[in-house]
Parts: sequence; structure tokens; C-alpha cells
Amino acid sequence: MIKTVFFNKDENCLELIDQTLLPLKEVIIKCHTEQDVAKNIIGMQVRGAPAIGVTAAYGVYLGLINPKNLEKNLHIEELLENICDLLTGTRPTAVNLFYAVNRVRNAILNLHTGDLDKAAKKALEEANAIYEEDLAMCRAIGKYGQELIGDSETWLTHCNAGALATAGYGTALGVFRAAKEAGKNIKIVADETRPLLQGARLTAWELMKDGFDVTVIADNMAGGLIRNDLVQGVIVGADRITAKGFVANKIGTYSLAVLCKYNGVPFYVAAPTSTFDMSIKYDDEIVIEQRNPDEITKFGGVQVAPDGVKVYNPAFDVTPPELITGIITDKGIIEPIYAETIPQVLGLK
Ligand code: MRU
Repeated sequence: MIKTVFFNKDENCLELIDQTLLPLKEVIIKCHTEQDVAKNIIGMQVRGAPAIGVTAAYGVYLGLINPKNLEKNLHIEELLENICDLLTGTRPTAVNLFYAVNRVRNAILNLHTGDLDKAAKKALEEANAIYEEDLAMCRAIGKYGQELIGDSETWLTHCNAGALATAGYGTALGVFRAAKEAGKNIKIVADETRPLLQGARLTAWELMKDGFDVTVIADNMAGGLIRNDLVQGVIVGADRITAKGFVANKIGTYSLAVLCKYNGVPFYVAAPTSTFDMSIKYDDEIVIEQRNPDEITKFGGVQVAPDGVKVYNPAFDVTPPELITGIITDKGIIEPIYAETIPQVLGLK
């Protein structure tokens, strides 16, 4: 199993596979403190909405056992706020991060204890529960989603919504895994996903490990494939889904959805319940992370644009619900996507 996020009980630390080095090197990073966790989320050694959430949940635990924090003799609530602020300040778009950190924080506050050992024990229990639930949700997404895929079909995906983006198995890639497990002979096309190449580096790597037939394309090739009926559908992940079904996901998702709509090809989003943010409705309420210009002006460390050129580098875009055929969740498929159908399927009503 890929060690996307793994709690090492013997060493009381969190292990992450360094995703910035894949597919060329498989290096395991050990996080001992909440600062280690924050640094690796910012640096994208761990990335993908559910994986960030699970990692940050363990980060709260590591913060509560960090000897440097214990020396400060802070009240638990103050220490907890410091740790949670650090972790939620890492990346703004994926709601799973906020969901997981708040869940661990609330579990501790509900103890009404001043005993740090008890608080840390609770944090670890809650982080383990979030990890296990994420795995189970990915399996359930796979179960529902695989029904949409026929034998001998080719489906396209963008970025990496796989085992590397979750506690394991994946959301979009979980659907492909479940289809394969159901005996369907399917082929996958992976958009390379400029600028950070999560599709070429990560999706291709993890699907090939599992024996999939994968073809990597440059992002600008997807339109031709879709127009020429060379893919039967598209499935992507999500970083945040609003109460009205606006979906924030890796930059380039919106263009794919438009291409699919224009050509009559199904466009699905696969996401666990933890990716829904029912506190907001519309796209302009989602904070889109802006990233370092170097990611655009350099390719593999080599400069490809003139010195001083202006750069626009949002990490995500938002796709409106009318372009999305359905959202595959762990509770079932939301189709069509309306403000009413979302809570119905998620069991929130
Ligand atoms: O910037 P990243 O690599 O964290 O972006 C990841 C994505 O956009 C994924 O599609 C999304 O988080 C869903 S992962 C199941």
C-alpha cells in the first residue's frame, strides 16, 4: 500500500511519501512536530484535499506532544488554537483541511479537560478515525461510481485524485479501481496537469503500479480526444463543493467541464462528504490559492519565460453545477445537482 499518510506507532511520528520527488524517488518523510506537518503541506510533499485533512489531523496530535510546546506551560485551549491556526494557515482552498482540524479541536474541547495527556490521546483517536473514515469513503465512492463505467471504455482524469490524494484508494481513481476490481477492462487518460504535473507524475505512477493501461497527455490535448469520442467520460476530484454545487478543483477542471458539455460527454466529480462546505453557496465565496510564479516561468527547474514577465498562477478553478453531470459521493450519486439534491443524498435533511 502507498504510504501517503501513515501514523508510525512505534516511533510516535507521522510518515508521508514525498510527492514532490515522485515518480523518480520514493522517499519517506517523518514528521515529529506540527511545524513539520505544516511545512510539508505548504511544500506539497503531501497534497490532495482529503490527504491534507488527514495529515493536519495528526498534526494537531503532534503539536500536543511537542516538548517545546509543553515547556511554554500554556492553557490547553491557547495551545490548541496556536496549533490549529498554524495548520489551517497552510493552504486555503481544500475544505477537508479545515474540516479535519476543527473536528480534532472540537473533540478535545468537548473533553473539558486541563490534562494534556488526555487531550493528546483524544487527538490521536480522532485523527485515526478521520483516516479510517476517509479510506471507507473512498471505497464507497468507488462502489457507486464504478456503475457508471462500461467495459472496454476509456475515461479521462485531471490532476491526482488517487491514493496519493487521500488516506488510500482515491476518489476519482477509486472509481477506476473499483471498475477494474469489478472485472471491467478500462483504459485511463491522465492530463499531465500543468504547472506541477500531478497527472503525469502521480496519477500515472500510482495507476501503473496497479496495472492500469494509462496514457499521459498534455492538458491542451484533452479537447481533441473528447471531440473525437476517444474518451467515454471524465472524472475529477474536488477541493471544496458549495451548498449549491459549485466545485473548486485543480486549475484546468473548468475547461474540461466546458469541453465535455459542448461535446455531450459525461463529466463527473468524485468527492467524500468531508469535501462539501455547506456554509457557503457560490463560487466567489471560495478562496483560491495563488502560487509561486516560478511554477509557471520554470519547467523542471529550467527557466522557460523571460525575466520579469508577469505571471498568473491560481492553483484551482471553480466549475458551476450546470456543467457537471453528477457528483459521486460516499453516500450515492448526486444527479442532477441542485441545492435540494445535495443534502438529500448526503443525508443532511
Ligand atoms: O494542489 P493539489 O495537488 O493539492 O490539488 C489536488 C486536487 O486538485 C485534487 O483534484 C483534489 O484535491 C481532490 S483529491 C481527492
